[in-house]
Amino acid sequence: MYRLLFCVLAVIGLASCRETRIHEEADWQKNYELPGIRNAAFILRDHSHEAVHFMNKEECLRRTLPASTFKIFNSLVALETGIAPDDNLLIKWDGVQRELPGWNQDLTLREAFRQSAVWYYQEIARRIGKPVMQHYLDTANYGNKTISKIDTFWLDGSLQISPDEQVGLLKRLYFAELPFAERTQRIVKSMMLWEDSSTYKLYYKTGWGCVNKTTDVLWVAGFTERLEKVKEMKGSMNNSDLRAYPYFFAQRFEIAHGDSTRDWAPFRIELLKKTLRQAGAI
Ligand SMILES: *[C@@H]1O[C@H](CO)[C@@H](O)[C@H](O)[C@H]1NC(C)=O
Ligand SMILES: *[C@@H]1O[C@H](CO)[C@@H](O)[C@H](O)[C@H]1NC(C)=O
Ligand SMILES: *[C@@H]1O[C@H](CO)[C@@H](O)[C@H](O)[C@H]1NC(C)=O
Repeated sequence: MYRLLFCVLAVIGLASCRETRIHEEADWQKNYELPGIRNAAFILRDHSHEAVHFMNKEECLRRTLPASTFKIFNSLVALETGIAPDDNLLIKWDGVQRELPGWNQDLTLREAFRQSAVWYYQEIARRIGKPVMQHYLDTANYGNKTISKIDTFWLDGSLQISPDEQVGLLKRLYFAELPFAERTQRIVKSMMLWEDSSTYKLYYKTGWGCVNKTTDVLWVAGFTERLEKVKEMKGSMNNSDLRAYPYFFAQRFEIAHGDSTRDWAPFRIELLKKTLRQAGAI
């Protein structure tokens, strides 16, 4: 994470970066130059080529609240501590009618993750408690690591993370290098899988949060595996084999609070896939 930050700064200073190749992708900006979109950031780490591609450096390094992308980390802590023994942990609905119909029912951890049910993860966070949550934020070095209230800190602006930092965490999750058991990381990765095609797998978590009275922030953070057939040696019993090339990404932009000129929730996924396709990551 810090190495990347250093490299980006080094590149700006016209010095070379030996560790990672950094590419500014001005072309990607066009995907986000649309009415209503502000401060768009995209960062993509191509692991196989040790390269980082980005647009809008300042935004890639600027921290904002993570909103529901924090459900990745909240799930990791829940599973690791046994608060959720597995992804089937059922929590009973409290009967309060909320805006999304899918939230108004008993949910398992996996269902709550897929539907991004805020109430479920607020209850999970309360069960984890502040000292344990703080311990894992510190150990994993998650953004600015700041908890206000245990059941709102990822929504109220106290916890902050940048797209660059999200990508660093996702890479560690993919390779099971975060300070959690391999099983914990494997379960959370499986919950993030949204597309499984013959040529790629796409994993992510979305987030939508209110920054202030006038501004909302929309995230998608995740990774892809581009799948390529690799020919086996002549004479092998295997005709072909699949090889996976991982890419880690974070997309973030802001819109006016209450902007309903588009259906932003699905549209941000369209934008994400457009940029990932352009980058050759799917
Ligand atoms: C994290 O960000 C919030 C909001 O800007 C701020 O109040 C808090 O002090 C920050 N924490 C650290 C450790 O910098
Ligand atoms: C709200 O947040 C946006 C984006 O961070 C900022 O540009 C704007 O000045 C803020 N508005 C208020 C009223 O604080
Ligand atoms: C075929 O490929 C699989 C996966 O790479 C490997 O585990 C297996 O040993 C291969 N079998 C042969 C006969 O080469």
